Amino acid sequence: MTRVPHLTARLQGFGTTVFAEMSALAVATGSVNLGQGFPDYPGPPEVLEVARAAIGTAADQYPPGPGTAELRRAIATHRERFAGPSYDPDTEVLVTAGATEALSGALLALLDTGDEVVLFEPMYDCYAAGIAMAGGVARPVPLHPPTEDGGRWTFDPAELRAAMTPRTKLLLLNSPHNPTGKVFTPDEVELLAAHAIANDLLVLTDEVYEHLVFGNARHVSIATLPGMRERTLVVSSAGKTFNVTGWKIGWICGPAALVVAVRTAKQFLTYVNGGPFQPAVAAGLALPDTYFEAAARDLEYRRDVLVQGLRDGGLPVFSPEATYFATVDVRSVQPDGDGLAFCRSLPERAGVVAVPTGVFYDPAHAHLGRHLVRFAFCKRDGVLAEAVQRLRRLT
Ligand SMILES: Cc1ncc(COP(=O)(O)O)c(C=O)c1O
Repeated sequence: MTRVPHLTARLQGFGTTVFAEMSALAVATGSVNLGQGFPDYPGPPEVLEVARAAIGTAADQYPPGPGTAELRRAIATHRERFAGPSYDPDTEVLVTAGATEALSGALLALLDTGDEVVLFEPMYDCYAAGIAMAGGVARPVPLHPPTEDGGRWTFDPAELRAAMTPRTKLLLLNSPHNPTGKVFTPDEVELLAAHAIANDLLVLTDEVYEHLVFGNARHVSIATLPGMRERTLVVSSAGKTFNVTGWKIGWICGPAALVVAVRTAKQFLTYVNGGPFQPAVAAGLALPDTYFEAAARDLEYRRDVLVQGLRDGGLPVFSPEATYFATVDVRSVQPDGDGLAFCRSLPERAGVVAVPTGVFYDPAHAHLGRHLVRFAFCKRDGVLAEAVQRLRRLT
């Protein structure tokens, strides 16, 4: 591991990410970039229009610390409409700078030095860094890849039990899950809730992909299970649902005492953000059910295009139940089974960029995902078609 001069010991090891390397490679080689998980198509016009109209008005100034009352009400109403439970917009909802600030604010607010956080890996990259910045210790539990086509990512309940210690303070869950596209089943969520209650844990649940769920998969928020609302903070954001990842409007909902704790940390991170975007996101959250259904169906279609294209390119694919991402097992086209080496050579071999799943694991467990690679499919038809055509060069 290269030591970064001047950087605090807490953040050594969190150097430049592979995303930056792969994106630079995409630009340098003129490759189709399926590495980064953001859409290249716009959000709903009625949402964009509200933001445009808000610029040049009082919305340009600092919004209230917890977020505008209108947006907090919209979040509470939306939460109750789709996932439950209900929250008081005045005391139990906090608007944040994306889900990222909700997560880091919660970790900074809740963890004391040495407190342990149980979470699943592969994991979204800000979790380990957020835990480290808060002085906590990550205790990752591996998700095991499907062993057959159409199989599911699973975890071993014994490995989950083994990760829990007397120092465990928090369970950090991400469902639907990045990078695997797994939706934790109702039985799995129930098991996690039972552990949280038995060990008196707080739960932080990242549900940013809550609306991007396909086929028969159903998203169940752990906050809705008996005994869970009082110990759970639910995080989500507008970025994925409305194709506005650059707006960075997120939120966190939970019992008032937990939300007050997060607000205490959050007020010294950004204080507030995105004034003109807050009314726009409020309008988006109030869109009819048909918008959210159509968004999921549209992405499901993009998933199918990419998954078929990858299969036509001779790549075994784990087709995801949700999110923006499909996972490929590269062993048949990369004899040493090294996903990172595969990603470094893919621009040359096929003119496409992806990211190795190994980077989403704790270094001690990276071998579990060494042979896997993540491709994003939240891209325009023409971009996906071009990527699919180029991937045929691999056969
Ligand atoms: C699982 C997960 N959580 C959180 C985020 C960050 O969300 P935001 O952009 O709202 O901070 C992402 C973005 O990729 C994500 O994949």
